Amino acid sequence: MSDRTSELQQIAERVRVCTRCPLYKSATHPVPGEGPANAEIMLIGEAPGFHEDQQGRPFVGASGRYLEELLAQIGLKRSDIFITNVVKHRPPENRDPMPEEIEACRIWLDEQIELIRPQVIVTISRFAMARWFPNEKITVIHGKAKRFGNLLVVPMFHPAAALRNQNLKPVMVEDFKKLPKYIADAKKNRDLAPPDEPKKDDPPIQQLKMF
Ligand code: URA
Repeated sequence: MSDRTSELQQIAERVRVCTRCPLYKSATHPVPGEGPANAEIMLIGEAPGFHEDQQGRPFVGASGRYLEELLAQIGLKRSDIFITNVVKHRPPENRDPMPEEIEACRIWLDEQIELIRPQVIVTISRFAMARWFPNEKITVIHGKAKRFGNLLVVPMFHPAAALRNQNLKPVMVEDFKKLPKYIADAKKNRDLAPPDEPKKDDPPIQQLKMF
């Protein structure tokens, strides 16, 4: 097992015993996230729902099945990407996570991003989107990538929104179709950067935590 894989597992172990906010009390299983430590794409949802809480795995319900369909259409499998949520324990009755819960859980997402260093982050919840795009509207910026140093962040609609509103399905399909090009662009940008010297506009990873 690579060092990064074992470090990622250590983060998951710490999430499993996390008591930083009260959500652990009502949850059945924590859901740290899953996927390869060297994933090029990281996908960030909102919080575990019923099925995720039962199984301890992200996106295993109806939203997850639709997400797998969207990925398949661009030749990707869920095992190619790292999938996680802003909040790692299920909020009771699937209510929105509260600001203090998001803040308490933030260290885990920070550590996952820092370790995996994905080329592209896809946000599929407004709480994930708010970290990089505060005050923006998903209806305006969905599918549009923005560069933060070496990282491209792409806000997308949540699969559950498309399951509720069929009109959103073709929009989501089109947005996902842009991902292969975004990944290729992100790789090219990294290849152009000098190996040991970050580019001038490349913010140190700590700076990510300000968003
Ligand atoms: N919705 C989310 O945002 N995350 C999950 O893990 C499942 C459904």
